[in-house]
Amino acid sequence: MEALEAILTRRSTRKYQPELPDQLLIEKVIEAGRYAPSGGNSQTTHFIIITKPDILDEIAWIVQTAFAKMQIQPNTYQSLQNSINASKRGNYIFHYNTPVLIVTANKKGYGNAMADSACALENMMIAANALDLGSCWINQLHWLDEDEAVREYFYGLGLEEDETVTGALALGYPADGLPNRKALPRTGNPVTWVMN
Ligand SMILES: Cc1cc2nc3c(=O)[nH]c(=O)nc-3n(C[C@H](O)[C@H](O)[C@H](O)COP(=O)(O)O)c2cc1C
Repeated sequence: MEALEAILTRRSTRKYQPELPDQLLIEKVIEAGRYAPSGGNSQTTHFIIITKPDILDEIAWIVQTAFAKMQIQPNTYQSLQNSINASKRGNYIFHYNTPVLIVTANKKGYGNAMADSACALENMMIAANALDLGSCWINQLHWLDEDEAVREYFYGLGLEEDETVTGALALGYPADGLPNRKALPRTGNPVTWVMN
């Protein structure tokens, strides 16, 4: 698939087949993430790739436990409220039972931590689409970056103490076959031209 087509037809996938995608495809997606640009060419984005079903189940459980302890405040944004409410009900699988979860982390206090990771995540989403894989940015681990139990668990998976979790990507074969490639209408993202 040509690059622009891969960008324009990318959509989020939230239902996955349980089978792992071919290892080669997973590696191509990770490579696309690693080849993303970074501020000052720092290349400090750390990719933690989780494909072990037991661990993925455990992470979902730990995340649900962390959200279930939280109280909704008047200024709690809507998607966080949804995570908290679903966790209190006890049926929250934040990663949609993805067979592959790619967690991105970066250096704490590094000014481009989020920007670099976002470039990597976007590269991976576009590459996934080009390879007929589904993907979805998953933000809950970023929200829980300061939760002690979540951090402690991720140290066991390779997160370094000087790193902050910036995001994550679900990746797999879409449950319904090929990725949904129907573009959403653009009602926002205004464009301002300044020209002669
Ligand atoms: C920074 C960021 C955070 C996101 N977090 C989540 C998330 O936690 N869970 C989720 O299902 N989708 C998440 N998404 C996906 C968006 O909901 C999705 O991109 C948007 O609704 C547009 O749909 P599309 O990706 O199909 O074009 C996130 C996307 C971005 C860029």
